[in-house]
Amino acid sequence: MKTGTGRKKKGFMKYYILLIINLLIARNPDAVGENGMVVSSHELASKVGIEILQGGGNAIDAAIATGFALAVVHPGAGNIGGGGFMVIRLADGTVTTIDFRETAPAAVFRDMFLDDSLNVIPGKSWNTSWAAGVPGSVAGFGLAYEKYGSANWRDLVKPAAELSTVGFPLDYQNMTSLNHPYYQEYLLKDEESAKIFSKDGHFTLYETFIQDDLGLTLERIANSGWNEFYTGKTADMILDCMQRTDGLITKKDLQNYRAIEREPIVFKYRGYEVHSMPPASSGGVTIAGILNQLENVVFDSLDYHSAQHIHYVAEAERRVYADRAEFMGDMDFVPVPIERLISDAYANIRWESVDSITASKSENIFHGNIPFSYQESDETTHYSVVDQWGNAVSVTTTINGWFGNGIVVDGAGFLLNNEMDDFSAKPGVPNAYGLIGKAANAIEPNKRMLSSMSPTIVETPEGELFLVLGSPGGPTIITTVAQIIMNVIDFEMNIEDAVESPRFHHQWLPDMIQLESYGFSPETVQALENRGHAIKYRGTIGEANCIQVQDGYIYGSADSRRNSSAAGY
Ligand code: DON
Repeated sequence: MKTGTGRKKKGFMKYYILLIINLLIARNPDAVGENGMVVSSHELASKVGIEILQGGGNAIDAAIATGFALAVVHPGAGNIGGGGFMVIRLADGTVTTIDFRETAPAAVFRDMFLDDSLNVIPGKSWNTSWAAGVPGSVAGFGLAYEKYGSANWRDLVKPAAELSTVGFPLDYQNMTSLNHPYYQEYLLKDEESAKIFSKDGHFTLYETFIQDDLGLTLERIANSGWNEFYTGKTADMILDCMQRTDGLITKKDLQNYRAIEREPIVFKYRGYEVHSMPPASSGGVTIAGILNQLENVVFDSLDYHSAQHIHYVAEAERRVYADRAEFMGDMDFVPVPIERLISDAYANIRWESVDSITASKSENIFHGNIPFSYQESDETTHYSVVDQWGNAVSVTTTINGWFGNGIVVDGAGFLLNNEMDDFSAKPGVPNAYGLIGKAANAIEPNKRMLSSMSPTIVETPEGELFLVLGSPGGPTIITTVAQIIMNVIDFEMNIEDAVESPRFHHQWLPDMIQLESYGFSPETVQALENRGHAIKYRGTIGEANCIQVQDGYIYGSADSRRNSSAAGY
């Protein structure tokens, strides 16, 4: 079913009318710069990044420094004990990615989170030492630095070390999450974590929050290089922690950990070129699957967030998440039919079963038909950076749940991740985010667990840098990034409107459209229900810290859904 083509290129007049609209009617960006921009989850981390840029560092340097700073000022998700993904677009147009996803320790086994009756043991993949994968963040920053950095390594880690030892004023988001009864209990369970994240009485707004042990760890990494984390004193501390908590990560696991540079997933959406993460992130492939199907829709003819618009997007999402569950896992371990999944031809086949009015039932939607023998030429935080030369970096990093597995490495001051929950503990049983996985994402030694993190960079049809995008939010990351791309390209929003606009999400199972509360009219919701969609209201979706480059300016949008901050110059 072909319901149309994309927006046609509009003329000269249209360009000026749009500029006026952007000036007078659209939301103001959070920051505008002519030289550089950093948008992250915390004002102090964005400040660290922008100061690196102003001091002559490039976007890769600033991304590394911002990442280390987030590990201090955003301990719920920023990290050195977790992992993530980075998409880099160099000023000459070369695009590459760094995969620093955690790996399963060598001692894991497929049914490690199941009891004798083969039922999933609640919490075992979440708040125990077994939940932790081998951390990748420090190796990822190290590889990015060695290949593309230009500043002095120490200068990139030092600001974070200083924020740890001197302390920083506790902001509202950190204060409320540390005071929340659920997290108080969560962080009290581990004696090392309790020393840092608990106190007698409540944390107060703007009190100075000092993390001495983390400061010393960052000093060691600053002075001895990134590998200290994997082979030095910090590694020994991780091993002490494993001994204390009966964990699985060994000396060899740490020594063997490698961040990997990979080719990005590249596809066109209405002439714009999108570059995103390949597996072990499902992000790039899944965004491609959504947008390629939606090229069959003429958005010009649809009202924004009308029932028809939401219906089409939800139906495309339903189908790609069914494919995600079946086909996607670490491509170093399982063959992932990437070329097929991101092709227009495959998207058009998937789109054929979409009814323009009535909702499909997810129980009747299966993964697409790709022969098994198909051979290929084989609580999270997002930040975006652009520098004066036009280098751009998009990074999403996580310890998975807010405060990871709640265990702090002995004397080292940082939390471990609970990323093992992103594996499929048992085929067909949903993980913490309601995602179903199958054999492709089963637990195996040294394998990377499947992720939804989707750092993404979009170029204009002329090949210029246009958007730097990403978000936290588990499976909603993918649909958040896809919606922002459509908001800008199809609905001609500026980046601020595109980020702030209400979001919705469908992930095949559970079979429902999740809507941000307060963002959609009762009439629209009723119209969706009349078509057969189940609806669930929920809190905010994601925190997309994004950048748009246009007309010689760099526009930063820090998502107001959380504590983010944009800094430009
Ligand atoms: O890699 C993933 O897909 C998840 N571990 C991300 C978790 C996440 O985004 C939580 N943030 N809100």
